[in-house]
Amino acid sequence: MSDTLAATRSPANASAPAARTNEVLVVDFGGQYSQLIARRVRECGVFSELLTADVSAEEIARRAPAGLILSGGPASVYAPGAPELDRALLDLGIPVLGICYGMQLLAHSLGGLVERAEVGEFGRADLIVHDPGRLLAGLPREQTCWMSHRDTVKRAPAGFRELASSGVSPVAAFEDEARGIYGIQFHPEVVHTPYGQQILTRFLIDVCGCEGGWSAASIVEEQVARIRAQVGEGSVICGLSGGVDSCVAALLVHRAVGDQLTCVFVDHGLMRKDEGEQVVATFRDSFKVPLVAVDAEARFLARLRGVSDPETKRKLIGAEFIRVFEEEAAKLSGARFLVQGTLYSDVIESGGRSGSATIKSHHNVGGLPDDLAFELVEPLRMLFKDEVRAVGAELGLPERLVWRQPFPGPGLAIRIVGGEATKERLDLLRDADAILQDEIRKAGLYHELWQSFCVLPDVRTVGVQGDQRTYGHVIVIRAVTSDDAMTADWARLPYDLLEQIASRMMGELSAVNRVVLDITSKPPGTIEWE
Ligand code: XMP
Repeated sequence: MSDTLAATRSPANASAPAARTNEVLVVDFGGQYSQLIARRVRECGVFSELLTADVSAEEIARRAPAGLILSGGPASVYAPGAPELDRALLDLGIPVLGICYGMQLLAHSLGGLVERAEVGEFGRADLIVHDPGRLLAGLPREQTCWMSHRDTVKRAPAGFRELASSGVSPVAAFEDEARGIYGIQFHPEVVHTPYGQQILTRFLIDVCGCEGGWSAASIVEEQVARIRAQVGEGSVICGLSGGVDSCVAALLVHRAVGDQLTCVFVDHGLMRKDEGEQVVATFRDSFKVPLVAVDAEARFLARLRGVSDPETKRKLIGAEFIRVFEEEAAKLSGARFLVQGTLYSDVIESGGRSGSATIKSHHNVGGLPDDLAFELVEPLRMLFKDEVRAVGAELGLPERLVWRQPFPGPGLAIRIVGGEATKERLDLLRDADAILQDEIRKAGLYHELWQSFCVLPDVRTVGVQGDQRTYGHVIVIRAVTSDDAMTADWARLPYDLLEQIASRMMGELSAVNRVVLDITSKPPGTIEWE
């Protein structure tokens, strides 16, 4: 599947928000939690973006944020090639908070003393506040915090107050209120630092003077204005997959330019039960979005005939998807813009800052060919997944779509394992999956699970039902918890729930005579079976 998409990016799509008093930038020194810092800042209602460590003081001055946060990072300030601090940053008159490596950099550059500690400090630590200063005022003298460092600040630079210490860190927090420079050795962004969010809020609201009004509603307003500026009178096309990203992106564009948008929904017949109908009902009937719904089930099943190899299935489905999408796009003559649901985490992962040319193709739409030359509209480019959901809810997207678990582009075809995805098997898997989802929702567990689904292996087993010997299908239940699909753990579903699911499947689906539970984590397994 091609991963590229010929496109040009409009500068209007990648600029900073207008309200600079409500923006705090995070300079990323490669820390494990840098993204999390930006998310926590946004949770305080302040817009935040990650910049790479080589950002110049001029660039920061141009952006004129209300504050700067220097993130943690794996380096030692003494290591050759370690990321350095542009001292000019400290002369901009913008308040600065250094976290972990960021604090060590401040200490090192301003004449404090940073040394390697005898032992590193990793995990929970007890923090003692000796002199709360401005940053820690009102917080308990003794508190828990989360540390992850080997180098430590032994002495603050001249003019700084040393605020707190821990077992390993003689100076675990410092500040120079007059110059607006603050440093903490621990990580306020992780949940294991109970007062972390309060400390961040203190910096953002009290020190930087942020207003804190950035919210899903303000994102909608801002993006609508931006989309209008980019698209003007042009026609826009959007491939709708039913996933939350493409749904929210489509609704934002529709809010901005109304019927200039046409959505294309390709139903490949590999969706879950009633899913296609739900998408069509939501977009065409409720939101009145012009929608081309293509019933392509027969085409896809014809392609998949006789195919059992997983990668071949994926490739065939991807290629067919492109063909159908292209055919529909060709009918919409004059469409110049293509909506993509690229998220901020994709932008960061692909190393692209806002305005960079890196393009990640939409997972569920598959790679579109190079000669399909559209200008991209990416209204979610600055948003994290939870913010996309909040925007979806703000726009009135039904809860079922806002909170939909991830679903692979090739759909149920890759959950029929070791065999061909026939209509009969797909229908059986769809029915089993509907029972699973129904029971998981009734148990109130749907949101807690990263994914929950059924797998239909191409094997039969012997059973006995109603005094008769049966030779039926096996349904596998797969339910996992995860944060990002990189790793996952099998979900400990309650036994009563599992029993209810199994007895419904065997009672309601005559072709099924056995239900099993997958208890494999990732690694070593993957989430999907193929
Ligand atoms: P695995 O099975 O590799 O899956 O642990 C990680 C995540 O990716 C999804 N997945 C896919 N998504 N096309 C997609 O759009 C695919 O071919 C595909 N394969 C896996 C999977 O559902 C999980 O969320």
